[in-house]
Amino acid sequence: MNEKVEILIPAEAIENRLREMADEIMRDYADKTITFVCVLKGGAVFAMDLARKISLPVEFEFLDVASYGNDTTGGTIKFNKDVGSPVTGKNVVIIEDIIDSGKTLSFLYKYLSAQDPAMLRICALLDKPDRRVASDFKADYTGFVIPDKFVVGFGLDYAQRYRNLPYVGVLEFVEA
Ligand code: IMP
Ligand code: MG
Repeated sequence: MNEKVEILIPAEAIENRLREMADEIMRDYADKTITFVCVLKGGAVFAMDLARKISLPVEFEFLDVASYGNDTTGGTIKFNKDVGSPVTGKNVVIIEDIIDSGKTLSFLYKYLSAQDPAMLRICALLDKPDRRVASDFKADYTGFVIPDKFVVGFGLDYAQRYRNLPYVGVLEFVEA
């Protein structure tokens, strides 16, 4: 089987939407120092692009919680890397690539809440609401709501590939 990526969200659309999201975050976090808690690896591309559109101080923390292995079906949550220091008293925005089952964010929201941040909001580039299992949290900033398709690009991977695509596309498997 060969893989084919069909463009779903072009680079320019992402660029424009990120600018709007940055403006919203700047309004909500006005005069504050923001702490981005970036969910690795998928959230990294999005976090860096978004941060550069924000004209407030942004600090970075990185977490690695994975709910996917090398395949396109959901799995269990695995904690690979914790934040460098607790987010107590910080004005946090969790930066995630996509909300799928919601298990990752449900876990992370509770985990970070327990550290008692001053603000704790969720920002996701993509949302696949059809697949939601856990919904005891809400995304405060969502880039694009997408259908139940497996997507790659702009941080999202399939078997660690395609993360550097400047657009989001649907991954398709075609007969060789
Ligand atoms: P959740 O815990 O099911 O919400 O899973 C979220 C994580 O699964 C995301 O951070 C992604 O890493 C991964 N994921 C979910 N859907 C896709 C997809 O369509 N393409 C690539 N990764 C995905
Ligand atoms: Mg992820």
